[in-house]
Amino acid sequence: MCGIVGYIGTQKASPILINGLLRLEYRGYDSAGIGVLENGAISVMKDKGRVNNLYNIDGINDLSGTIGIAHTRWATHGVPSKENAHPHKDNSGEFAVVHNGIIENYNDLRKFLTDKGYNFYSQTDTEVIPNLVHYYYHQDEKDDEQRLLRAVNNACKDLKGSYAIELISKEHPDMMIVVRKDSPLVIGKGYKENYISSDIPAILSFTKDFYLIDDNEIAVLTRENVEFYNDNLEKVDKKLESIEWSATAAEKDGYEDYMLKEIYEQPNAIRETIGSRLPEDGPCYFEDLDFSKEYLSSINKIYIVACGTAMHAGLVGKNMLEKLCKINTEVDIASEFRYRDPIINEKTLCLFISQSGETADTIAALKLAKSKGAKTLAISNVIGSSITREADYSIYTHAGPEIAVASTKAYTSQVVLIAILAIYFAEILESEHYAILKDLKQEVLSLPAKVENALKSNKRIQDFARKVYNEKDMFFLGRGVDQTVALEGSLKLKEISYIHSEAYAAGELKHGPIALVEKGITVVGILTDPKLVEKSISNIQEVITRGAKTFIITNQELPADKFDMIIKVPEVNPLLSPIVSVVPLQLFAYHISKEKGLDVDKPRNLAKSVTVE
Ligand code: F6R
Repeated sequence: MCGIVGYIGTQKASPILINGLLRLEYRGYDSAGIGVLENGAISVMKDKGRVNNLYNIDGINDLSGTIGIAHTRWATHGVPSKENAHPHKDNSGEFAVVHNGIIENYNDLRKFLTDKGYNFYSQTDTEVIPNLVHYYYHQDEKDDEQRLLRAVNNACKDLKGSYAIELISKEHPDMMIVVRKDSPLVIGKGYKENYISSDIPAILSFTKDFYLIDDNEIAVLTRENVEFYNDNLEKVDKKLESIEWSATAAEKDGYEDYMLKEIYEQPNAIRETIGSRLPEDGPCYFEDLDFSKEYLSSINKIYIVACGTAMHAGLVGKNMLEKLCKINTEVDIASEFRYRDPIINEKTLCLFISQSGETADTIAALKLAKSKGAKTLAISNVIGSSITREADYSIYTHAGPEIAVASTKAYTSQVVLIAILAIYFAEILESEHYAILKDLKQEVLSLPAKVENALKSNKRIQDFARKVYNEKDMFFLGRGVDQTVALEGSLKLKEISYIHSEAYAAGELKHGPIALVEKGITVVGILTDPKLVEKSISNIQEVITRGAKTFIITNQELPADKFDMIIKVPEVNPLLSPIVSVVPLQLFAYHISKEKGLDVDKPRNLAKSVTVE
């Protein structure tokens, strides 16, 4: 998804901007550009393709201005091209803008501006913004310090949709304006310099002090100061937040790819997720939650709403909440939930899971649930992210920054966090025996070591990946909770290896999809629930008879000669088994992608943070 960087200070802006863009590359993009203000003009340099291509643009190294804006674009309106790349200027060249998000009414605004004599040179929705600002700026007869702020605010009032905007003006060489609505943006505070970015890792090497700008707020940045206003242009006080992550936590740490690093970080990420929430003696504890028995008993339904991998974590969570808390729990895809008029009222608790906390559909679903009177609880990895600011309650996975597009440690830490949440609810509700909950807590505490153990199969998984990486189709099968892991394994494989795969409940195969099974196809079986293993083996037998190769993830003793490869993982309570059994599936997808020579961290067509609908 698009990325934004900005700088105002005393140093040359262009290297800081390009460096920031490079750190945002993981979000996915198709073009990049910077705009630097110097000698009374704004120089815009942009192109299609990689950020590094910017270095080939004539004159880019000579830019000496100390204020600038920068952008990586992921096309929504208009093809990836130099013309459509940001920054965009207004017709007179007075203002330059970079923008994330989508302006839904840009056609109407284009018409309005065209009627006033403005011309458009790109296919983007963004180009209306600098021209609208120009329009309002020159409509304003008062030439005081706030003229630019007023013009930007007036322009924003005309915009429908989502946006994070950075604007510079040649008439105001010592000022930058940023605005945010439903699109991420943070401001980093330095000494006599300030930074802007779509997310924290891009500027973490410059500062650890951040302001989190809220929806519909405008910030005016000078070298010395950052001032915040609401959309009535009243001043807003902001607290400076300090971020604990080190810049190196966002680097690769010697691993070939971010994805592999993040897979190996899982034991630690899970430890961080557990933190102090499972005290040795005493009930589960969440610093930011204060649910009463009375309230929890009044809930008649829990919805878990999320997208992609986060939704798969929700499927595991459903199982836990229903088993431990005896509350009917439904999982929904955010993009479906938001448009299907779900039955929600004040007796509904809605959980929203989002690693980034910026997924547009999940945020919209949350707003819908709130508007219908439900209590909302966000589960995110990013402190201060949009979803956590909208929700009634927020709890964090604390898994550290996840850079690879394919989510790994976020999934396992989300599942761990929901497990602790389910135990916390069950303790308050007294809906499950004390001894069972006590055992389960011990099992949660044992997870880092068990995941560590599962990682030891890496070499054998790589060997098997080498045998099958050229295949065109694969199936992932499991029953019960293993089926939810099958979905996640299949998604991981698709997204980074581009191999078509399907996940099925093992018992469902013979109702249609088995017609696709023939010699050469690979079937991945996840067999961890002792009660269901025998049944699943019978289903796997059916595909073996039809010539499929089999790759089995299990914690049971199975006859080695029956399958092409068995990966044994440590045994754990079936409610928690996805946290361990997903690890070989992540490694399997990783090695297949590597064997195919693909870009593991930045798969085609995908973005880390899906901030548009
Ligand atoms: C897949 C993946 C995506 C995300 C989904 C939701 O590996 O990463 O499916 O899980 O886009 O993202 P968040 O959790 O940021 O809302």
